[in-house]
Amino acid sequence: MIILKNIKKSYFIGERELPILKGINLEIARGEFVILMGVSGSGKTTLMNIIGLLDKQTEGEYRFMDTPIDGLEDETLAMMRNKHIGFVFQQFFLLPYLTALENVLIPIVYSQKQIKHPREKAKQLLGKFGLAERIHNKPSQLSGGEQQRVAIARALINDPDLILADEPTGALDSKTGNEIMELFHLLNEEGRTVIVVTHDPKLASFGKRLIRIEDGTISEDTTD
Ligand SMILES: Nc1ncnc2c1ncn2[C@@H]1O[C@H](COP(=O)(O)OP(=O)(O)OP(=O)(O)O)[C@@H](O)[C@H]1O
Ligand SMILES: [Mg+2]
Repeated sequence: MIILKNIKKSYFIGERELPILKGINLEIARGEFVILMGVSGSGKTTLMNIIGLLDKQTEGEYRFMDTPIDGLEDETLAMMRNKHIGFVFQQFFLLPYLTALENVLIPIVYSQKQIKHPREKAKQLLGKFGLAERIHNKPSQLSGGEQQRVAIARALINDPDLILADEPTGALDSKTGNEIMELFHLLNEEGRTVIVVTHDPKLASFGKRLIRIEDGTISEDTTD
């Protein structure tokens, strides 16, 4: 599903080149559950943004879903993202003036896929995540864990093949964080490919494969 060949990424501050990813080689197959770890600044988010088609590498080759990504138009990339990838972030990024149900329906507006009965599907997802009684609440009327569940439902509404979560438990207490990881476990059991970035070694055991990034390269890659 994901093939990265010698991926390098630099940021440029004026004239100065700041190398962040220094040659990442990585293959992730359908159905994997990968935990990505590494100290702050090691390049985890940079790598997730490349995998998620939100940013482009400076060097190297990326194949996503059997398609070479390099040189594709931004519009094509946006279509691929919308069709294949669901994103979950630390800060949830729900729209404050919309209800839980409306937030989950946002990606439908941009969708190329024909999702049948989206409202029913959104309700079903929220119900599955224990939020049946909360669908008309605004984000401010929900706990952090509930907001993250709404964000995960939103990531799933288009039926993505891949779920990318960058520190999804970073803003939650450890019990709630565990519940969120249980949810990713469940989604993986259902056949979705999941990649989760976390700082917390206690959460690493939820995944089947652990990849550690150190100073822009992969320093560990272990599968259970
Ligand atoms: N747009 C940018 N311009 C310049 N430097 C950047 C940019 N984005 C990230 N960086 C730098 O790249 C390095 C890696 O950042 P990245 O966000 O990938 O780290 P991370 O592993 O996700 O860290 P954290 O655990 O704190 O989220 C950092 O030193 C950061 O300052
Ligand atoms: Mg990060």
